[in-house]
Amino acid sequence: MRYEPLFIVFEGIDGAGKTSIAKALVKLLNSQGFQTLYTYEPFNDEMTKLIRRYGRALGAVIETLLMAADRYYHVEKVIKPALNEGKIVISDRYYYSSIAYQGARGADIQWIKTVNYFAIKPDIAFYLDVSPEVGLSRKRNGTTRIPYLEEDIKTTEKVRAIYRRLVSEEGLSEIDASKDKCYVLRECVKEICRKKGLLCQAAVCGD
Ligand code: TYD
Repeated sequence: MRYEPLFIVFEGIDGAGKTSIAKALVKLLNSQGFQTLYTYEPFNDEMTKLIRRYGRALGAVIETLLMAADRYYHVEKVIKPALNEGKIVISDRYYYSSIAYQGARGADIQWIKTVNYFAIKPDIAFYLDVSPEVGLSRKRNGTTRIPYLEEDIKTTEKVRAIYRRLVSEEGLSEIDASKDKCYVLRECVKEICRKKGLLCQAAVCGD
């Protein structure tokens, strides 16, 4: 089967359902014969440790720099090679997370974009929208690798507001993720069909 490599990312606050939708999409693509790579950010465990240690103490500037360093490795060593092999790459978070989270925590958004200049633009960036209350209620039993980033509901409101701005400013595809998983996956598949002509006939949740 011949197809163009594709780079798709999922964004949203904690509890929006990014991981489960990204994995369901990978499964669907695999079942249709596509070669895929599921990946995520922050990518490197050592870097995540550094962010936990220094981010809390020093704030959004150091978070931005460490996330960008992590992302540079991710883009150069993981994402670009997989795209060059012709795969469909699905990343759970990307540089929009830096704009939304570190922007909400006080870093200058223009500067965040500058620091991330090397990050290639994805073909499709999904933003799964839920309110912080819904996100929090879904995450109650889940794990978060950098818990201090998700502690404060007021900051999470700001993260959401920045994401919503990015929908119009950067062309993110917004999906109402307060609905059930089949609805969200179906909307993702429709968008991939609309933008790239792929998965147009694929059945989602048995329909
Ligand atoms: P993780 O446990 O991977 O959570 P999630 O399933 O929500 O992705 O934790 C990642 C945390 O890092 C999450 O709180 C968002 C935050 N983050 C940033 O603040 N900036 C970034 O650039 C990235 C990639 C993540």
